[in-house]
Amino acid sequence: MKLFIDTANIEHIRIAAKWGCISGATTNPSLIAKEGRKLEDVVKEISDLIDGPISAEVAEASANEMVEQAKELAKIHRNIVIKLPMTIDGIEACAELTKLGIKTNVTLVFSVHQALMACEAGATYISPFMGRVDDAGDSGAELIEKIMTMINNYGYETQVIAASIRNLSHVEQAALAGADIATIPFAVLEKMVKHPLTDAGLKIFKDAAKK
Ligand code: G3P
Repeated sequence: MKLFIDTANIEHIRIAAKWGCISGATTNPSLIAKEGRKLEDVVKEISDLIDGPISAEVAEASANEMVEQAKELAKIHRNIVIKLPMTIDGIEACAELTKLGIKTNVTLVFSVHQALMACEAGATYISPFMGRVDDAGDSGAELIEKIMTMINNYGYETQVIAASIRNLSHVEQAALAGADIATIPFAVLEKMVKHPLTDAGLKIFKDAAKK
């Protein structure tokens, strides 16, 4: 499973990019607003740090308007992927951008039906939101499993980005369900390296080396 970083914080991206295991980045309007910066500036800077897909989200509008926004964003860098909302207009824009050869990421996916629509519209990626499904009392892990089954049944090329990842369990569940990618906040990425037994083992080895 590929690991993307889910943030608009350039310092965090700079640090994580050096680890050599992050192959893409995703942003959304909330993450951009948190940094208080312009979307275009942020994604340009990310493209200097990560050589992989970088999702930039359009503002929700009519299909035509989102296609126009997408064309402008796509000019920023060859790695830009246009994040579109899971709406009728979003799907229409997805189909149009696919025809134009512009990569898309249909976001805010919460059901197999939505995923199916996006796959049929030619989405490059879809982003089911694990954490928000759990928040609503359902299972984010099950959603990923069902979407993977549906995609494998029909051989769609659309890749699944497990999103709204809040903890290590989400990462594990996404990987076990066969998600292509998980987009992960910086704090969770840092935790993925840690295990108390690794720390304990290190201490034992350090003490032994001193002797
Ligand atoms: O990848 C989407 C993500 O940024 C949303 O996460 O925690 O706001 O549900 P969250």
